[in-house]
Parts: sequence; C-alpha cells; structure tokens
Amino acid sequence: MLFSVCLAASLAVKAGDKEYKPDFSPLAMASQYSATDEQISLIEPDHNASASVIRGYEIYNGKCAMCHSYGYEKGATLRLERRYQGAVPALIALRTDLSRQLIETFVRKETVGMPPFRITEISPSDMDDLVAYLTRLNSK
Ligand code: HEC
Repeated sequence: MLFSVCLAASLAVKAGDKEYKPDFSPLAMASQYSATDEQISLIEPDHNASASVIRGYEIYNGKCAMCHSYGYEKGATLRLERRYQGAVPALIALRTDLSRQLIETFVRKETVGMPPFRITEISPSDMDDLVAYLTRLNSK
C-alpha cells in the first residue's frame, strides 16, 4: 500500500500549472483503448462488399484480430495507437492508407512484435482477399 502511494506520487509530473497523474486503473486503460460502437460497426464489411472482401474479413478474424482487434488487451492496437497518436486509426481494419506492399511486408516478414506468416498459413489467394479487405475503405 505504502509502495503504491509512493509510486503514484513519484509518477505525478508537473505539466505547466496542471498536475498530470496517469491513471493506471483497469477501467481507465480499458476505456482508453476500446473502440466506439460506430468504429466496431465499420469493422464488418457492408452488405454490398465483394466475395473477396468478405473472405478477407474471415481471414482477418482468424489470423489477425487476436492482436489487431479492439479492446485494451489487444497488443498490436495498443502499440499502433501509441505510435500514431491518432494520426491514423489504431485498428488496422479501419485504416484507409494501407497498401498491398505494406500489408505483404508486415504479414510475410519478421517485424518488431509481429510474427511472419508462411505461404502454408496464408496462401497467395488468401493474401489477395486480405488486401481486398484491408484496403476496402481506401479512397478509390
Ligand atoms: C501476435 C500478434 C499479431 C498478429 C497475429 C498479427 N499482428 Fe500485425 N502487428 C502486430 C504488432 C505488435 C504490430 C506493430 C509492430 C510494430 O510496432 O512495428 C503489427 C503491425 C501490423 C501492421 C503495420 C501497421 C503500421 O502502420 O505500422 C500491419 C499492416 C499488420 N500488422 C497487419 C497484420 C495482418 C494483416 C495480420 C493477420 C494476417 C496481422 N497483422 C497479425 C501484431 C500482430
């Protein structure tokens, strides 16, 4: 108890006149990294989506969502949120700036924090569908 009081006191930093105390309670963390209902509804392809986009969404759910979905426990979303600071959506399913090249690089090559997927895990045609899904919101 005494330890956590000391910790909280030492973490309180002065920013201008306002004192900023980071809130590490599970509730604060959850609300910070959870998507809104509107964002969640956009993750699912709309009713006139192509068959390829729908298959890509299924692959995303099976192979990517465990790290890239919403919720404070989703490590990739959390990291991308910190990296981009709101410049682009932390949820990759809502990005409008992803290219085939970038998606393929991240999926196939070992990167910081993300495992590579082999051709046996994601086939070239799976990749096409994944790209179709993750670029569906890009302006044409
Ligand atoms: C085990 C967790 C995990 C899985 C599964 C995973 N990713 Fe990632 N992904 C990450 C992490 C962590 C990062 C951030 C890497 C970094 O900080 O450079 C990332 C980054 C990315 C990025 C880069 C975004 C950017 O702008 O930097 C893309 C694109 C991406 N992932 C696509 C996918 C796709 C598509 C799948 C499914 C086929 C997938 N990821 C599965 C953890 C994962």
